[in-house]
Amino acid sequence: MTFGEYLQRQGVEANLRDVLKTVAAIFPKIAEAMRGGLEGAAGSKNVFGEGQLKLDVFSNDLFTEALTRHPYVAMVASEELDESMNGPAGDEGYSLAYDPLDGSSLVDVNLAVGTIVGVYKGKGFVGRKGSDQAAAIIAVYGPRLTFMVTVGHGVTEFIYDWGKKDFVVNHEDVKVGESKKMFAPGNLRACSDPQVKWYVDLMHFWLTNEYTLRYSGGMVPDVNQILKKGGGVFTYPGYSEMPDGKLRLIYECAPMAFLMEQAGGVAFSAGGPILDMTVEKIDQRTPIFIGSKKEVELVQSYFKK
Ligand code: AHG
Repeated sequence: MTFGEYLQRQGVEANLRDVLKTVAAIFPKIAEAMRGGLEGAAGSKNVFGEGQLKLDVFSNDLFTEALTRHPYVAMVASEELDESMNGPAGDEGYSLAYDPLDGSSLVDVNLAVGTIVGVYKGKGFVGRKGSDQAAAIIAVYGPRLTFMVTVGHGVTEFIYDWGKKDFVVNHEDVKVGESKKMFAPGNLRACSDPQVKWYVDLMHFWLTNEYTLRYSGGMVPDVNQILKKGGGVFTYPGYSEMPDGKLRLIYECAPMAFLMEQAGGVAFSAGGPILDMTVEKIDQRTPIFIGSKKEVELVQSYFKK
């Protein structure tokens, strides 16, 4: 089954189908640019002051060019852009928040990277919640080109068939179990902060209870692994230097949370479920604990101590 057929079978309305197919068509272009060896610094910085790579700029341009002209797109916000941009559609259109190439600094060492997209019905992001998303996608550029998608009825994985030039189903009904001894601990720097002693204690628990470490440094492949392997936990806490951590709500955490919840897992910030957080500004950050329900509860039990 192709992605187009899947969307139709899911009963996704025609305009959203069109938007999602436009998004999916960008993924092989990014993969090809990486295969072709596009690398190096672009000499510019994004809104967060982070140096941009040529690949960041290239990937962002693909999204911006395709979506800001799309008749059913009302607004876009990109991790690589200072401000959101309007599309031609009004309130009846869709708003898309995306990180065009998450973990791009891993490309030159040939590790997997990804794209993250959250789609909201209507115009704008501020005042919305992750639970308002109509769809979420994470694409993984590794040995294979795959993506996980939800339109609110479970999660399905697609793989790109380079011969057919289309995405076909690779894993139906992706499920995350209640527990699995696999951990992906982001921001271990927080362990040197006396305020975050709970993270050291949690680490000690994982290390002395036969948990398997699976951490690549890219949130997309790390969370994708939890979805594919049916469980585990990914953490990225804040610390004194960055109380809300590094990861952004609309570009990274909300789409991941939507996918995880649709697969049967959970995603929490320090205060509550990620999907219940109201977007106050487009560059908002949040700590995140995401994965199997019981593994996230365990993290929270340490966090609350
Ligand atoms: P970026 O958006 O700058 O490419 O960062 C990637 C993210 C995320 O994928 C990963 O989990 C996290 O950064 C790792 O960051 P640190 O190595 O700085 O902790």
